[in-house]
Amino acid sequence: MKADSGKRVVIVGTQWGDEGKGKVTDYFAARADVVVRYQGGNNAGHTIVFGGKKYALQTTPSGIFNPQIINVIANGVVVNPVALQGELERLESQGITDYNLRISNRAAVVMPWHSVLDGAYEEMKGGKLIGTTKKGIGPAYADKYNRIGIRMGDLLDPEYFAERLHNVLQVKNMELQMLGLPTFEFDAVFEQYRALGERFRPCICDTSVLLNKAIEEGKKILFEGAQGVMLCIDHGTFPYVTSSSPTAASVPVNTGIAPRYVDNVLGVCKAYCTRVGEGPFPTELHDELAHYIRERGHEYCTVTGRPRRVGWLDVVALRHAARVSGVNYLSLMLFDVLSGLEKVCICTAYELDGQVIDYVPSTITELERCKPVLEELPGWVEDTTTCRSVEEMPEAAQRYIARIEELTGAEVAVVSVGPDREQTILRKDFF
Ligand code: GDP
Ligand code: IMO
Ligand code: MG
Repeated sequence: MKADSGKRVVIVGTQWGDEGKGKVTDYFAARADVVVRYQGGNNAGHTIVFGGKKYALQTTPSGIFNPQIINVIANGVVVNPVALQGELERLESQGITDYNLRISNRAAVVMPWHSVLDGAYEEMKGGKLIGTTKKGIGPAYADKYNRIGIRMGDLLDPEYFAERLHNVLQVKNMELQMLGLPTFEFDAVFEQYRALGERFRPCICDTSVLLNKAIEEGKKILFEGAQGVMLCIDHGTFPYVTSSSPTAASVPVNTGIAPRYVDNVLGVCKAYCTRVGEGPFPTELHDELAHYIRERGHEYCTVTGRPRRVGWLDVVALRHAARVSGVNYLSLMLFDVLSGLEKVCICTAYELDGQVIDYVPSTITELERCKPVLEELPGWVEDTTTCRSVEEMPEAAQRYIARIEELTGAEVAVVSVGPDREQTILRKDFF
């Protein structure tokens, strides 16, 4: 473990996304100079609540509300400039007009065929859908790695963009034709995306240079992840995952800084678990309990509106996420939701084919056969939304938090007791 307090903190989702990363990033942004989104795209939906207003961010970093903060969309993000423009217009209509946004010239562009292909590939899977957000994220990353992607910086050079677009369209239109889908005309795409390039020209730059300068100057930087480690392309429940790595290990390559500059990793986790989309979920609940938690936690996806699947806190998955991401502090979210339950459970191990295991199997077939080994703890009835310290909480609630620390070996530095910025308990100052 590194030193207690550091200037560069990575905020990582440790479950299947929607852990409350936006809320936590906004909370710590009050002390940050720079906030950086390092992967994913507008498949993310980060909700922030303060001053009686609610804001939904998708590609924009959660430091956008403070004009003193530089908000960076780094090279590892896939940017849909049409969606980003819409998102900024929505923010402006909510009174957020003064902000400082930078976009990496190396960030991949989500082009209009990507969402079409995302939907088409899902349909082709028959009953084995991933349940993607259909924002074109997978196809955009695939094109990047296949080296037929377009980057934000390309949009600023009309001659080069025209050449790239010609080549890319040749491949993509062939793919679309083979799938029996409408193709794209060069002129219309060229004009639209060239204009979008101009719209974002003042923001587009080499954000790696910007970040390294900020580090040299001793600035405080938050790296905001999207999704969660269990949706990681490498360490998640493949193939039911997203197409990037939300782990802290992906920050250096996705932002252009050296690994040694990451000081602390804050793992964000709900006091229980949720998942949207398909894929194994060992602690999933199906009964009235799931309904109770879903309604109290308003567990409906902000991007697609789908109800989120709900389950008990899975410490096997949490330890896995913490291990591969180097999590040294935890932020325990939606703690208020658990009030009113007779008992609360924590999954401490899995039972696989009659054997107790303490790791996440790599194959879906094995993970689907895993049954949770549950530890029961007494619940509490008292409302915790007005608590501003853990000591004010009922004893059973305090015991639940202490047990999570024992089982994970990570310190619970933050406890969140409501969606509002004010409903946050900071137990350990590390940033
Ligand atoms: P993210 O994708 O990780 O940023 O999380 P989302 O914003 O998609 O989902 C988290 C949801 O929980 C949002 O609606 C938040 O407003 C809400 N939320 C965050 N923290 C708390 C909390 O402590 N209690 C309650 N009740 N809601 C919370
Ligand atoms: P935030 O940042 C929750 C899920 C989708 C699907 C899978 C693949 O708000 O936590 P994709 O569109 O990425 O190809 O979908 O990943 N998913 C998320 N689930 N929160 C997210 O982001 C997610 N982003 C993607 O539901 O199961
Ligand atoms: Mg979300």
